Order: sequence, then C-alpha cells, then structure tokens
Amino acid sequence: AAVVEHTFVVKQVYMRHLCNDTLVTVVNGQFPGPPVEATEGDTVVVHVVNESPFEITIHWHGVKQRLTCWADGAGMITQCPIQPNTTFTYRFNVDGQVGTLWWHAHVSILRATLHGIIVIRPKSSSYPFQKPHVDVPIIIAEWWQRDLMKVDKNFSMGGSFSDNPAAATINGKLSDLYNCSGVREDNFVLNVEHGKTYMLRLVNAALFSEYYFKVTDHKFTVVGSDANYVRPYATDVVAVAPGETIDVLMVADAPPCRYYMVALANQPPAPDPQIPVFMSRGIVQYRGIPLDADKCRNEPLMPEMPDQHDTLTTFYFHGNLSGLPGHPLLPKIQGRVDEHLFISLGKGSICKGNKPSCRRGGNPESIEVAYMNNVSFRLPEKMSLLEARHYGKMNGAGAAVVVQDLPSRPPRAFNYTDPALIPVVPGGELERLEATRKATTVRRFAHNATVEVVFQSTSTMQSDSNPMHLHGHDFFVLAQGHGNYDPAKDVSSYNVVDPQMKNTVQVPRLGWAAIRFVADNPGAWFMHCHFEFHIAMGMATVIEVANGPMLGDTLPPPPSDLPKCENKN
Ligand code: C2O
Repeated sequence: AAVVEHTFVVKQVYMRHLCNDTLVTVVNGQFPGPPVEATEGDTVVVHVVNESPFEITIHWHGVKQRLTCWADGAGMITQCPIQPNTTFTYRFNVDGQVGTLWWHAHVSILRATLHGIIVIRPKSSSYPFQKPHVDVPIIIAEWWQRDLMKVDKNFSMGGSFSDNPAAATINGKLSDLYNCSGVREDNFVLNVEHGKTYMLRLVNAALFSEYYFKVTDHKFTVVGSDANYVRPYATDVVAVAPGETIDVLMVADAPPCRYYMVALANQPPAPDPQIPVFMSRGIVQYRGIPLDADKCRNEPLMPEMPDQHDTLTTFYFHGNLSGLPGHPLLPKIQGRVDEHLFISLGKGSICKGNKPSCRRGGNPESIEVAYMNNVSFRLPEKMSLLEARHYGKMNGAGAAVVVQDLPSRPPRAFNYTDPALIPVVPGGELERLEATRKATTVRRFAHNATVEVVFQSTSTMQSDSNPMHLHGHDFFVLAQGHGNYDPAKDVSSYNVVDPQMKNTVQVPRLGWAAIRFVADNPGAWFMHCHFEFHIAMGMATVIEVANGPMLGDTLPPPPSDLPKCENKN
C-alpha cells in the first residue's frame, strides 16, 4: 500500500461569476477543491495549512476512520478547529472501501466552497462489473454570493428564506443557464468517444438540495453509492441527496452529437414560493460529430426532467437500490439487535435567552430549531467531545463538556396534515407533549453492539426530506416508507438479504427509514442531517462507541499536533 500525500492551503480568493468578483474560501485556489485519489488500503496524509481568517476542519466524508477517530475532522466533536495561520495533518487509511467519497469543511457552512472528491480504486483494479474506460467526477454544488458567515448565523437563529445560493454548479461551472449582461457562464463539457463506457462519480456537495441528474438520450447503470457496490440497477434518472455519492456507468452509445447533462434541484412542495429553481447543465460532446449533423451544431436537446417538486422519483430510486449479497457484516445484523433507537426528526421553537414563556412558534421571543427527539444539538464550546471523553472531562467535577443522553422514544403516530396542505401547522404530537430544548446529546453503545435506528420525519417537517449521515460507520438500509413507522407491520418489509450499505440515507419526506449497523469503531461519531440548515439548527447527535476488550479495538491517544482547544478564542 502506498502513501497518498497532499498539502491543502485554505485561503480566500476572488472568483468571478455573474459579473461579480466574489471572495470565496477554497483549497489551493480551486473550486471544487483538489481530488484525493487512492487505492484501497493506502494511507492518506493531508497537511492542512489554514491561511484563511476562519477556523477550519476538514472531514473525510464516508471514510470509516477505523481507530482514527481523531482524524475525522468533525469540528468540536473530534477536534477543535485549526486556527488561522496554523496547520494540522490528517492521517488515515482507506481500507475495505472502494468507490467515491468526498471531503469537506466541517465547521460552520464553509463547506459550500471547501470540498472535493475522494476516489478509492480497488487493489487489483478489478470491479464486479465491466471496467469503465474513463472516470469522470461530477460534483454538484452551489455558487454563493452571500457572506456565508452571515448565512450560518441566520440559520443558527432559525433561518431566513433569502439566504439562497446564486446558482447551481457542476464541477464548479455555473452553466449557460446563468448569465449576466448577456454573457453566458461556461458549461462543464465532457468529451466522449462513441462506444466507450464512462464511470460518472456523482457527489452532491450542495448545502441545500437533493438533485435529479439526467443526460439526454443516455441510460445509466448504478453500480455504487457511498463507496459500496450496488447491485447493478438500470435507470435514466439519478437522485442524489446532500452528502450522498452515486456511481453510474454510462455507455456513449447515442448518435454522435451534443447532449445536455442536467442537475435539477428537487425541492419538495415548499411553504415559501420565494425559493427559486436551481438547475445546472453541462454538455456531453461526442468526438467526430458528422458535418451534416445540423441539429448537433445548434442547441443540444434537453432531457425531460422530473418535476421540480416530484418526491416520488427519489423515493423509488433509493428504494430500488440493493447491495451485493455476502457482505461480511450481514450475519451480525440478521441476528439479534442489541439496541433500538427511534428518532423523530422535526422542528420546534425555543426561547431566546431561556425565558420559559415563549414556547410556541411564531413568537418573536422564540427561535426556530431543528431536533432529534425534541432536543436541538448544541456543539461543545470549550473542548471537543472526543477530547473530553479521552481526558475524563465529560460531565462531573471540572467538566469541559456536559452531555446528556439522547432521549429514547417508542415509535408512535404523529399527527401531520395532508401533504398537499402546505404551509404547515406547527406542532406535531411529540412537540405538544414535550417542549423542545437544547443540549449536547450522546448515545453510548457497547463495542460491537448491533444497533437499529428508525428515523421518522413525519412530525413537523412537512416540506423536507432528511439525508441522515453517520460518521465512522457504514450502515445497512433495511427499508423506507411513507407515513408513520409501525413496527408491527414494517419490520416484515426489511431487506436483510442484500440491503445496500451506505453512510447517508435519504429519509423520505413525510416518511421513515430503518438502518442497522455494528458499532465496531471506538470513538465519538457525529450523526446528523446533511442539509446544512438542518445541522446548523441542531438536527444532530453523537454516537459514542466504547473501546473493545482487545488492544486492537482501542482508540489510541490523540496525535500530538491536534489543535489545542485552549487556543480557541
Ligand atoms: Cu459530510 Cu458530518 O458530514
């Protein structure tokens, strides 16, 4: 195995789009940032040099970080941020994972422009499908012209609908859909050769939206997701949720011509019509287009996209994916489940400055938060949670971090209005039973416990679907459904034969999803919604996994250059 080494210089630069020079924070002057390419089993070493005025961490999204929780890069969970004009080196292995992952900043919402792809190739360069001729990263993201620090602040205070990106992007290009004073932005162009197979590695790095992706007159075979193989699935449309990656094969088998590739934001029926449509497009351009092919020299054809508000296409796309059978962890999740966790995802309101009298939404004294089981997550401030755990400074005398258990819930019915009746009446059943509060919640698991989590996003999240992401572990996705989860009947729909393995599951709008994983990686792992405004509003918790009985199952002490929390001002 080799060592893959990079230096990431984080810096503010001006980039010009839509007639504006906008100051953005990026790695090595690039948007999206540089790719990290490795072979299964390699060691990755990244020196992060922070020349920006902001606190930074870099998270390696989907990398399991087995026994290297210190390198996970979750700000205030596994480390204090890298302060301006300081450096930190991340070291970890990419073992037992093949496919597409990505990296992004994990402190505030700087990940809008601080992200890039991670490609992990198989050792023998053998795939369980026909080897593609060409590899193509397709990173879907957004171009922001607003001050991201202000947007971040707005969201931690309940959000503002005017905090929208200026455009959707594919590989950093805004596309000819966007122009300013008649000057069109550039498209991302993929040059293809007839008959060749292209592996498109889709990453949704957007802060806000799930995206639908299509190429006119071309079909895809989905072969991977979140760096796990998927049973080959033929489709002409891909749905990719924030945080998720989808690998597809595309054979260039159409008549040589020019075709659009389109990424369209899937925006569930929204309570606010001010939210604009986000779409970006690139061009698939065949080599050797015949000179008489007139229509190729004019506008390429647009694919027929799903409706912008269509939530069923993503429901069935995700529901139709399965894994390859024979995964070594399958027997564990087919057997006894040690821990059941039912998590209701929703929004509620809390009082500014702790006044007890303003519990109801709509009160100017209250702010809107997002929660898991009525608790909105508060990030530790003095010390990272993992350090507090390591140095015995969690709770008790002289505690640096005070944590509470994530409250348990039995599955239950929620009252929600007809999906067509948007906007929403605030107040699901849970919220009425118990006031929403803010706390740093943790759920502890014994080493090697088999855990089932059911996410229910029915209560007050009328308009949103929730891509739930777990750090440090992949999980099996057993089932999803609309409406209320009912253990009496829904357990029988679980796929425990060939479920897909993921690190991010799209919990359907007004529905639920059930996952299982083996808590085999000691540390403190963030679990949160990957919609940036949901995480900023507190839809998160921490999964703490105990050390195992063997030395090889114990989290080693922190690296000596881990940023010091005392430096935090
Ligand atoms: Cu992609 Cu906690 O992150």
